[in-house]
Amino acid sequence: MLAVKDLAFTYRRGGEELFDGLSHTFAPGALTAVTGPSGRGKSTLLYVLGLMLQPTRGVVEVNGAPVSSLPDSSRASLRAHQIGFVFQDAALDPSRSVLDAVVEPALYAGVRRSTASTRARELLAALGVEDRVDHRPGEISGGQAQRVAVARALVNAPTIVLADEPTGNLDRANAATVLQALRWAAAETSVVIATHDPFVLEHADEVVAL
Ligand SMILES: Nc1ncnc2c1ncn2[C@@H]1O[C@H](COP(=O)(O)OP(=O)(O)OP(=O)(O)O)[C@@H](O)[C@H]1O
Ligand SMILES: [Mg+2]
Repeated sequence: MLAVKDLAFTYRRGGEELFDGLSHTFAPGALTAVTGPSGRGKSTLLYVLGLMLQPTRGVVEVNGAPVSSLPDSSRASLRAHQIGFVFQDAALDPSRSVLDAVVEPALYAGVRRSTASTRARELLAALGVEDRVDHRPGEISGGQAQRVAVARALVNAPTIVLADEPTGNLDRANAATVLQALRWAAAETSVVIATHDPFVLEHADEVVAL
């Protein structure tokens, strides 16, 4: 279970404070949309939830324990094992195959390649892109790339999935497929989506407005 208490973040001393002391619990099994005008801190909130940035005030809790102030190595380990990221525009390495892109975070977490490949293929099949495993990210559609990015985020069976504008450049049909993929992931995890997309907002279980 993921929660924030009295959360605030500033990039620079004396700079604009983001989140305004936000307190929220992101329920497991729920799909939460974080929305708000450009520049309000949606992406930054995902980085703070993902333990890549440390809050300047307040705390991020996982399963009731404060984690945002843990040492770098502990946060890196939590990130590798418990948190999956779907970055904006998929951001897949163009030089390697779709399968490699999905397998990589598992290898980083210490999983054997054969085990990771099996899991990656299962996820890609569940997301309907199994026939693209040997393609390069440049050879698949935007909607397929986003589904691959979702598979990559899920390969370590994270308890938290964070997605930044995952439907940003997609048409409605592809947005629906990606949202369905995240909804599928949300069966066992807390999914947090930073988005402006009215379609995502309409289908989220909860909306946090920054
Ligand atoms: N690395 C950085 N250093 C300093 N300020 C930053 C940095 N990254 C973002 N900001 C500022 O922090 C604020 C929040 O940025 P953020 O990217 O989180 O907004 P956002 O809500 O995701 O916006 P958008 O909808 O445009 O993606 C903005 O004012 C931005 O200019
Ligand atoms: Mg953003």
